[in-house]
Amino acid sequence: MSKELKTTWRSPSNIALVKYWGKKKGVQIPANPSISFTLEQCYSETTVTLTPKPRKSKEILLQFYFDGKANMAFQLKLLRFFETIRRDFSLLHTHSLLIHSTNSFPHSSGIASSASAMSALALCLCDLQQQIDGKPMKEAAFFKKASHYARLGSGSAARSVYPLAAVWGKTTALRGSSDLVAIPVGDLLHKDFRTYQNTILIASSAEKKVSSRLGHSLMKTNPYAKTRYAQAQSNLKTLLTALRRGDTETFGTIVEQEAMTLHALMMCSHPSFILMAPSTLQMIEKIRSFRNDTGLPVYFTLDAGPNIHLLYPKSISKKVDAFIYAELEQHCEQGKMIHDHVGQGPRRVVNN
Ligand code: PMV
Repeated sequence: MSKELKTTWRSPSNIALVKYWGKKKGVQIPANPSISFTLEQCYSETTVTLTPKPRKSKEILLQFYFDGKANMAFQLKLLRFFETIRRDFSLLHTHSLLIHSTNSFPHSSGIASSASAMSALALCLCDLQQQIDGKPMKEAAFFKKASHYARLGSGSAARSVYPLAAVWGKTTALRGSSDLVAIPVGDLLHKDFRTYQNTILIASSAEKKVSSRLGHSLMKTNPYAKTRYAQAQSNLKTLLTALRRGDTETFGTIVEQEAMTLHALMMCSHPSFILMAPSTLQMIEKIRSFRNDTGLPVYFTLDAGPNIHLLYPKSISKKVDAFIYAELEQHCEQGKMIHDHVGQGPRRVVNN
């Protein structure tokens, strides 16, 4: 085994509809189940090149480049992650790793860059380990394994390995749901949701002030935590029914409640923090007025950041576009926005 091995995966970000916010005891175990749409235009592309070590050694050898530049901060994060999974990947002992990663969107801007980055990396590792072992896995088992390791890297990344939509976390509403891996739920979406639009209005692309890791840990002392976890369980059930039926109104009501609850939990954490920007609130006001005035099913959600994810059916794109450019663009940082939609999931990039 003396030759170099290489693979590239493009893996998308996802937008949570019912949010994961808070962990249970254990390694990256969610306090409540979550569901997300998989995105298409917001993705990470990661290439891992393996070179055999001259001799097997315990030291993990890694060089990490982000956007073509060596990035020590990420490299150290990844080294810590690899230490936790080294027993499951013999390649970490036998090979040195060269990792190149790029994002199609600004990282740490509230667009879940850790989800796309960690899922792309997990897919590369599982793919290369499979090549080394010479035992091709069935597709479902491969993606389940990738979801597991993506989760260990960043919880929400577990959901990014599947097309259309995925649920992560145990719920009685879905057979096969698990705290350890996400499961695909694209098949149960009504056709209108399979092409749902998600325009991301960039209120600010600055790096966020509080990491998700800290945010999750503050839930341990949040006085509303218990109520929140029960609410998420119930919202997930209601949302699954709405997604099956094509009920855009129930969908939107739940999704907006989830966004506002997530940010309310941040505000009443101790210490408290705010990730919304003034322009986030200005846009929320306008979206709600537009919906009241037109009766169109245009709703928003927020991730752990100030950017608005506008969600609406493809059939009304023209009308919503007109609204976006007339009313919302002025509140975006340099008019920046990303027109995204429910996507087809990760893919291996060939000919790299
Ligand atoms: O995956 P993490 O640890 O970055 O947490 C993500 C948390 C939210 O994005 C706010 C919600 C979610 O479920 O994606």
